[in-house]
Amino acid sequence: MNQNETPFLEALKKYIDENVSPFDVPGHHMGNVDNLFKDYIGELTYRCDVNAPRGLDNLNHPSGVIDEAQKLMADCYKADEAFFLINGTSSGILAMIAATVKAHEEIILPRNCHKSVINGLILSGAIPVFVMPQFDHNLEISNQPSIDDYIKQIEKHPNAKAIFVINPTYFGSTNDLKALAKIAHENGMLCLADEAHGAHLGFSKELPISAMEADFDLSAVSMHKTGGALTQASVLLRKGNRVTHYDVFKSLMVVNTTSPSNLLIASLDSARHFMALNGKNKLEEVIKIGEEAREKINEIPGLKARGKDYFLNQGSYDYDSTKLVIELESLTINGFELYNVLKDEYNIQMELAEQYTVLAILAIGTKKEHLDNLVNALKDISKRFYIEKRTYPKYHYDSPFPKMVMRPRVAYQAPVKRVNLDDALGLISKESIMIYPPGIPLIIPGEVFDKNIIDRIKWYKKTKATILMDYDDMTVSVVDYEQYLENRDNVEDRFDD
Ligand SMILES: Cc1ncc(COP(=O)(O)O)c(C=O)c1O
Repeated sequence: MNQNETPFLEALKKYIDENVSPFDVPGHHMGNVDNLFKDYIGELTYRCDVNAPRGLDNLNHPSGVIDEAQKLMADCYKADEAFFLINGTSSGILAMIAATVKAHEEIILPRNCHKSVINGLILSGAIPVFVMPQFDHNLEISNQPSIDDYIKQIEKHPNAKAIFVINPTYFGSTNDLKALAKIAHENGMLCLADEAHGAHLGFSKELPISAMEADFDLSAVSMHKTGGALTQASVLLRKGNRVTHYDVFKSLMVVNTTSPSNLLIASLDSARHFMALNGKNKLEEVIKIGEEAREKINEIPGLKARGKDYFLNQGSYDYDSTKLVIELESLTINGFELYNVLKDEYNIQMELAEQYTVLAILAIGTKKEHLDNLVNALKDISKRFYIEKRTYPKYHYDSPFPKMVMRPRVAYQAPVKRVNLDDALGLISKESIMIYPPGIPLIIPGEVFDKNIIDRIKWYKKTKATILMDYDDMTVSVVDYEQYLENRDNVEDRFDD
C-alpha cells in the first residue's frame, strides 16, 4: 500500500476548503462563535471540528476515507484490520475483552494490568485468572510475569478463552510474545495485547517486537502515547481469523461514541503516515540520545539510569529502551518528591513516579535539548539532596496483590457499605484503588482488604503520590455482605461458595 497517502486528512482539507453552509452539529458551525479557547488555539482547529457525514465517512460504519485510512493503518502495523478508537486504548481494551470472553468464562492476565482491563472484566463478567508479575524489589515496580507462570495458568485453566499481555509495561518490560502466542493458540486460547505504551514497537530492530508481529489476535495501541497522534486517539488491531471483524465491530458499537472527533481521526491518519515513513529513523535517533543521557545520569551521585541490561537481569525477555527509568539510589527525597521538584523548580514534566523511581518517556517528539535540561536538573538536585547513606527505609511488600474471592462484576454490582480503611480488614472491595499514573490498581472489586494492602494504602497516602480512591477521607467502599446474601437471588454467585 502507498503509505505516503493520507486519505482522511486530504478529505478533511477538501471539506474545509469547500466553504460549506453547515446545519449539522457541532453547533459552533466551523468556529463561528466568540470563544476564548478558539482565540487561543486558532480558528482552523474549530473549522476542522466538523461532523460532515457526507464527505468524511462514518467511523461506526466506514466505507470511504476512514475505511481507506484504517487499511493503511493495518498495513503499517502488520495487522489484517485496524479500527480507529477515539476514546483511547481504554475503549479498545473494553471492546477487546467483551468481544472474546463472556460472563463466567476465564481470561488469563497479569495482575499489574491497567484499570481499563479491570473495567473490561466488569463489563464482560469474565473470571480473571491472574498471573503474578515478577516484582523488582529494588525499584519496587512490577515487570512481566514469567513465561512459566503463564504456562502454569494455561495448564491449570484449560478452558480459559484468552491470555492477555501488556506489551510493554509502563517501565518497558516485555515478554516472549511469539512463544506465548504459540502456546496459547495450541491450547485453543486467543491472544490479546495491551499496547498502550507500544505504538512504536516493531519499527526498529533495536526495539521489542509488536503483538501483531507475534501473531496475536487483537491489540489495543495508544497512537496518542508514543505514535504521535492527539490525546485519546488509539487503534484496535486484529490479525488472523480466530476473532472476526463482526466480533470486534459489535463490541465497538457498545463503547464508541456516535460523535467521533474528526480532529482525532485526522491525527491518526497523519501519525500513521509519519510512523510508516520516518518511524524507524526517528526512533533510532531517540534511542541513541536516550543512551547518551543514561550514561550522563549514571555519573550523577545518588542516581542510576536503568536500561536494557538491568531489566533483562530482572527477568524481562526484552526491553523497550525508550523508557528512561531513573532510580533514586541515595537521595534525601523520594521519587514522588523528585517528580514534583523537577516540575515545580526546573519546569520538567516527568511521566510518573514511584517511591524509588521516576520515569521519562522518550518518543518521536523527544528533543536532545530537553534531555540536556533533565540531566542538568538532576545534577543540581543531586548536589542538593545526595547523601552517602540513604535515610529512607526500603519498604517491601510480602504479597504485592490481595486475594480475589468474587468476580469483579459481582462485587461491582453488589450492595455497598462505606467503612474506615482500618475497619476494612477481611472485607471485599467494591472499588479500584490506584496510584495515578500508572493507574495499576492496588486492589480491585472482588479482592479482600488484607493487612498488607491496608498498610500499603496508608503508606502511599503519606507520600506525595496521587492516590485515587472513591473518597479522600480514608474510608473505602466495600461489599455489604449481609445485604448481598439477602438479595443473592438477584445477583451472581461468589467464587468460593
Ligand atoms: C498499561 C496501560 N494500558 C491502558 C491504558 C489506557 O490507555 P488510554 O489512556 O489510551 O485509554 C493506559 C493508560 O495510561 C496504560 O498505561
